[in-house]
Amino acid sequence: MSASTSAIESVLVENRVFPPSDAIARAARVSGMAGYDALCAEADKDFEGFWARLARENVRWTKPFTRTLDQSNAPFFKWFDDGELNASANCLDRHIGTPTENKDAIIFEADDGSVTRVTYKELLARVSQFANALKAHGVSKGDRVLIYMPMTVEGVIAMQACARIGATHSVVFGGFSAKAVQERIIDAGAVAVVTANFQMRGGKELPLKAIIDEALAMGGCDTIRNVFVFQRTPTACNMVAGRDKTFGEILEGQSSDCPPVAVGAEHPLFILYTSGSTGKPKGVQHSTGGYLLWAKLTMDWTFDLRPDDIFWCTADIGWITGHTYVAYGPLAAGATQIIFEGIPTFPNAGRFWQMIEKHKCTIFYTAPTAIRSLIKAAEGDAAVHPARSDLSSLRILGSVGEPINPEAWMWYHKNVGGERCPIVDTFWQTETGGHVITPLPGATPLVPGSCTLPLPGIAAAIVDEVGNDIANGTGGILVIKRPWPSMIRTIWNDPERFKKAYFPEELKGYYLAGDGAVRSADRGYFRITGRIDDVLNVSGHRMGTMEIESALVSKTDLVAEAAVVGRPDDVTGEAICAFVVLKRARPTGEEAKQIANELRNWVAKEIGPIAKPKDIRFGDNLPKTRSGKIMRRLLRSIAKGEAITQDTSTLENPAILDQLAQTN
Ligand code: PRX
Repeated sequence: MSASTSAIESVLVENRVFPPSDAIARAARVSGMAGYDALCAEADKDFEGFWARLARENVRWTKPFTRTLDQSNAPFFKWFDDGELNASANCLDRHIGTPTENKDAIIFEADDGSVTRVTYKELLARVSQFANALKAHGVSKGDRVLIYMPMTVEGVIAMQACARIGATHSVVFGGFSAKAVQERIIDAGAVAVVTANFQMRGGKELPLKAIIDEALAMGGCDTIRNVFVFQRTPTACNMVAGRDKTFGEILEGQSSDCPPVAVGAEHPLFILYTSGSTGKPKGVQHSTGGYLLWAKLTMDWTFDLRPDDIFWCTADIGWITGHTYVAYGPLAAGATQIIFEGIPTFPNAGRFWQMIEKHKCTIFYTAPTAIRSLIKAAEGDAAVHPARSDLSSLRILGSVGEPINPEAWMWYHKNVGGERCPIVDTFWQTETGGHVITPLPGATPLVPGSCTLPLPGIAAAIVDEVGNDIANGTGGILVIKRPWPSMIRTIWNDPERFKKAYFPEELKGYYLAGDGAVRSADRGYFRITGRIDDVLNVSGHRMGTMEIESALVSKTDLVAEAAVVGRPDDVTGEAICAFVVLKRARPTGEEAKQIANELRNWVAKEIGPIAKPKDIRFGDNLPKTRSGKIMRRLLRSIAKGEAITQDTSTLENPAILDQLAQTN
């Protein structure tokens, strides 16, 4: 986003305001703006005391902490440093001996619609058994385990089992390629892989284990000793003797009792790779204590969780949302949650609404892309409209992952929320561990398209390039001025990159989110205007433009040069647009189409299908300055189909613009 875009966007004022009803406000844990203000005042008055109180109230410590925040080696902050705990005990054991133990922890709906329920007691037994199996194969505290699983109960069990023995998991989304898996195994130095033979999505059986085999065959993965394979479907898959074992084999004879291993609060609970502005994904490292506090606390604050809620977060465990609001938060809070294996459009685009009715879901949390695509589907086919389902069980709706446009917000509010459910538009990132700017359902008056206000204790602000505050109503750089418990601790294997990427010197030591934002002139509400770095957000998935460029140019027999930019898309938020110079003459017509497809498939193989460019344009060259720098802002205009109004006098080859604008 350029400064001029933010200035234009900042004048688009949204006037609709939806305050919580009196009944909702009265019943809520954080009640009315007075409740929110009181928490903010407490954090202001005694910052460390505030977090210490919440950490004592929300987390079970096996050894209580005496130090709350250690800033001596900033920005490598430490929270609750001398305390000890176990994350899995905080999600499971804490409920044993309480009425929650026999409650459903998970209602699992498979792709084919079949439903399985697992109580907290059963989940604890299954996690313990799996943890024992990991131990029996030599996995121990501090080891890294790569998890490449479908959205199933077993995926959550694998994560919880790692946490139980103090192993650090690194979940890789099941849509990533063998190459992406291999890079993550090497970077994390993983000792084992947990995967499944196949995953079921939209009635199709898609391979997982075969991709692991391919990744391991690429070399460099010598740290891997074992591959554990969940047999999701009856179809056989290749098994390497000595290395690969089925879940059935490793669980056989294992006790369902496994004492949780206490770890220090700063022990890395997980690493999750995410895209940044350079080619190589970053291994975002999270802590155990601060992270867990956040997962539990935001279930209570943002979702105002009650004992009888049926919570449903539709995110995959391969993303941060599936970590905090599937694998940890709902369990730490003792919620019953729905886990859904499939896709929202199978067997039809009414699946989400039908599932809400079927399971009497009360809190529904999804991404704007899903909402926008279901709006389109409902407009084209009344049979899949939410009106066809009884959604009266819903009480709170949530949105995450990308900006929600006011039209989609209004549709969600009216057609899904029946105009009675608050929508929490939660802004956060892989790096923040959980929500940081979000409405509280019983407190904050809602404004469509705005994530409203920071959580108590979160010092979010909008600044200029040198870290000075910017007045409300003007766009700028989103920062967080003080540390918070669930923040990223470092980039795995790369502390220098951590410092540079998130705490650049010119920003006075503030955390740089990488997003642009503007605060409304009247309420000071935040609205996220989009990434300010070379990161795209496609369907709520983060993609680095450089990552895609590297993938394209690695097709060395064909591609000479490539530049990737984003352009707005009605459904996916942003779409990937690639400008490519080939090592042969610029193709046109059918040949261009065929090569574009070849390149798309190549990118899918290098990164994953989610990174496939939607548009590919070919040129004899790219627009460059005389010093050879690619002028991306011009490419962004061409990708959008805009007339070029920028100054092009510094261009080496202005004629190239017409050529790129013509090819499609
Ligand atoms: O650009 C912001 C956008 O998603 C980015 C973070 O992506 P990721 O780490 O994959 O985490 C996604 C799930 C938390 C942010 O830098 N983003 C996330 N939530 C919102 C958002 N943009 C606008 N509004 C949101 N509610």
